[in-house]
Amino acid sequence: MERLEGPVGVLGASGYVGGAAVAALEAAGVDVRPAAGSSHDRYPTVDVRDRTAVREFVEGCGCVVDAAGLVGIGTCADDPDAAFEINALGSATVAWACRRRSVPLVHCSSAAAIGYPETLPVTAGHPRDPATTYGYTKLLGERAVRTVTDGSVPSITFVLTNPYGTVETVHGSAADGASVVDFFLERAAAGNSLPVHRPGTQERDLIHVRDAARAVVAAVNALAGSTRTDSIDPRQGTDPRERTFVLGSGDSYSVLEVAGLVAAASTELTGSSPDLELRTRPSDRPVIDRFTVDPDPLETALDVTPTVDLESWICGELEGRLERDRTSVRG
Ligand SMILES: NC(=O)c1ccc[n+]([C@@H]2O[C@H](COP(=O)([O-])OP(=O)(O)OC[C@H]3O[C@@H](n4cnc5c(N)ncnc54)[C@H](OP(=O)(O)O)[C@@H]3O)[C@@H](O)[C@H]2O)c1
Repeated sequence: MERLEGPVGVLGASGYVGGAAVAALEAAGVDVRPAAGSSHDRYPTVDVRDRTAVREFVEGCGCVVDAAGLVGIGTCADDPDAAFEINALGSATVAWACRRRSVPLVHCSSAAAIGYPETLPVTAGHPRDPATTYGYTKLLGERAVRTVTDGSVPSITFVLTNPYGTVETVHGSAADGASVVDFFLERAAAGNSLPVHRPGTQERDLIHVRDAARAVVAAVNALAGSTRTDSIDPRQGTDPRERTFVLGSGDSYSVLEVAGLVAAASTELTGSSPDLELRTRPSDRPVIDRFTVDPDPLETALDVTPTVDLESWICGELEGRLERDRTSVRG
């Protein structure tokens, strides 16, 4: 990262993905400047709706990672105005501040911006047709970032699929994901049943958050000019999508398969299997049957290959959780 002219600013550092990015950047020896969205003991606050605060933050940075957002389908549906202000306008504000100061940007978008896939595997150039307020506002943010940065300042956008797993930070604290994997693990560790929304065959790409964070480090590294800048330099690329990557593992699982893996791990570790309950879905939106991604572009351009295998991670994680529960009961 020797060509970075300042620390790497991480917006949304108090969040799940931002926290993992901070941990991975720090582990890579990068000077990081984290910022939270709201008041926290650990990090200063930079609200992406506050143009002056964003400008001041970006000013001293050598690169910015924007992991700030109002995240989740229900959360954004409940407050569409906030979703628009944070995910759409906020992303544009960050990109504009980066452009003004020629600061490279790594932006986090979401698979929700794509909506129902027309072709599989989903690639960065797949048409966007979001089905939710969350996806729609993420798409506005994604487009704003591309429009503002193209030809002006290097930027990489990640269309993130479904991160799972626990983040250990250098400060010792851990953040759990909100994915179906984490949900099932928590239920199994507590001896509860695993509720699967019908039909259960819906398939999603799942990526460990640590692998997602490694991609962020690779992107920062690439933007800093120390590796393979030629393949992502906006002055050399004519197609803006060259610098957007779908960030997934390339491994997709149905919800029933995930529940089956958790149940099998539970049987192996405790001798008993949690019940699987098929439940009616809480939403009447049509279900996305499959969302698979091709990880090759990430590997080719950024040298990123996901390392975490879901099945072995589930076993290790459940074992750790059961052990922690036993220790706290004994204590
Ligand atoms: N987790 C997923 O499943 C997933 C999947 C695809 C894409 N993504 C994308 O990844 C990014 C991070 O998601 P996440 O899962 O880490 O979400 P998260 O855990 O909810 O974290 C969101 C972060 O954004 C910050 N934030 C919220 N409002 C803000 C504002 N007005 N100004 C500045 N910061 C603000 C929050 O700060 P405070 O908590 O301090 O307020 C928090 O640090 C988002 O762009 C999201 O769309 C996530």
